Amino acid sequence: MTIDVRTDRLADLTVDALFLGYFADNGFASDLSSLDMATIDLINRHISEQEFKGKALKAMVLHSPSGVKAKHIVVIGLGNQADLTPVVLRQAAAKAARKGRKLKAKSLAVGLNQMHQSATIDLKTAIQMMTEGLLLGQYQFSRYKTVDKEKLVKQSIESAAFITPEKELLPTIKAGIARGEAIATAILNARDLINEPPSKIKPVSLVQVAQEIAQLSSNISLTSLNEKELQQEGYAALLAVASGSEEEPYLIHLQYRPATTSSSETKSNLISSKINKTIGKRPVIALVGKGVTFDSGGLGLKPWASMLSMKSDMAGAGTVLGIFQALAELEAVGEPIDIEVHGIIAATENMISGKAMRPDDIIETKQGKTIEIRHTDAEGRLILADAITYANQFKPDYIVDFATLTGAAIRALGRAYAVYMGNNDELLAAIATASDATGELAWPLPLPKEYKKYLESSVADLQNITTNADSPGAIFGGLFIQEFVEDRPWAHIDMAGPAWLEEDFNPVYPKGATGYGILLGLSLLEQLAAKKG
Ligand code: BES
Ligand code: ZN
Ligand code: ZN
Repeated sequence: MTIDVRTDRLADLTVDALFLGYFADNGFASDLSSLDMATIDLINRHISEQEFKGKALKAMVLHSPSGVKAKHIVVIGLGNQADLTPVVLRQAAAKAARKGRKLKAKSLAVGLNQMHQSATIDLKTAIQMMTEGLLLGQYQFSRYKTVDKEKLVKQSIESAAFITPEKELLPTIKAGIARGEAIATAILNARDLINEPPSKIKPVSLVQVAQEIAQLSSNISLTSLNEKELQQEGYAALLAVASGSEEEPYLIHLQYRPATTSSSETKSNLISSKINKTIGKRPVIALVGKGVTFDSGGLGLKPWASMLSMKSDMAGAGTVLGIFQALAELEAVGEPIDIEVHGIIAATENMISGKAMRPDDIIETKQGKTIEIRHTDAEGRLILADAITYANQFKPDYIVDFATLTGAAIRALGRAYAVYMGNNDELLAAIATASDATGELAWPLPLPKEYKKYLESSVADLQNITTNADSPGAIFGGLFIQEFVEDRPWAHIDMAGPAWLEEDFNPVYPKGATGYGILLGLSLLEQLAAKKG
């Protein structure tokens, strides 16, 4: 979908669907001055007949309205004007894209006006949010549909345009579109990667995607360890998980080091990089992703119904890759984030064979601690143990891991929320802020030392599960990973819930892979970049 801005009169637009925003307490959020009174009356009559109140994300359609060239007018509710946030605006635009698809509209137009007059949101951000919403809302994974192909093509939106009568706003609007496109492109690619069947996406595929991303920017570099190198270096936990699979495991390491100053940097980034330079170095963060391209459970095989969707057990890796793609895309539109980022992905399958790791096995991790395997399905924490040990080498200022780690996280909070935990209040607060700012829901859990006893094994340093039924599953996962974190700020985001959806919560997220964590992670990076190094 191409997204652009135009200054046409609303009545003259030959689009399939014209979208108008509507505040519950304040009426139209779009400038209607280029419509004649009869058309405005017609829309208002529909609004009162259909008792449309402008509640957020409610939509009302007028088919073949007179007075305009557009085939449909769609009025989208935005709620009360004072409550309008970037999150609501992104969702409203996603809703618009979904409506557009339903109407089989190829071309959309969005009438702008008062969103940039709201005290809580500036025009550029508003446009960025709507761009993201349109692109994320129209997403469908239909690559493998052959029978209904024509229907799907009919439903795909080709173009969208923001309409404003004010020419002087065009540069700001274009900048908002560019930023929104940069971020949405990264999320859409992550969704595709996660949605691809597990026979297509193998651990090596994640290396290939990392290579493609590294090519997007001269400030991104890539190294990776293959199976032989992992053996030489002693990454036995990752190798143990991979041992039942025909596929070679990898430890992938992407690095992003933005140029210190460049003419393309925006003013605010220049200021923050100068602050970092005068006070010290720019902050360094390691983002660690769980990349299990299929989780069968291993010898502790999952029942068939639980195995469904386990292609998405690499969604944490998808998040890290998506964040790196967004870093490159943002740089390309002149808005780099001033922070050094290491992306570390442990990539493997968890499969079953005569060579697979067994319950009762004891493995020695790269870090040195030994682990008694009590359940082959608790594999994520094993590979994260080695990946975090790898991350420790760079002595980053922060480590954040993204993982579809436990079913217990889903049982605790359902699929709308990720759960997160960590050892540093400042980092946890930044995650809470990122969650609020982006609408990617996440809720904190504690890491009480009282529960560390559940980690104790009778034969090794740690056990990978406890059979104690009172032990909290998601917290156990966090406590286990913490054992491998050297003394530095760290947080663990268990995104088993929101990585994959079977039902609608929010028009921004499709069914299947959501790309959860990319918006949240980027917001976190922006906050940390703004801090002193
Ligand atoms: N990949 C799963 C966690 C998961 C479950 C993600 C459902 C998404 C949806 C993880 O590797 C796993 O199997 N965890 C086990 C741990 C248990 C054996 C302690 C679980 O949660 O059941
Ligand atoms: Zn598992
Ligand atoms: Zn898993």
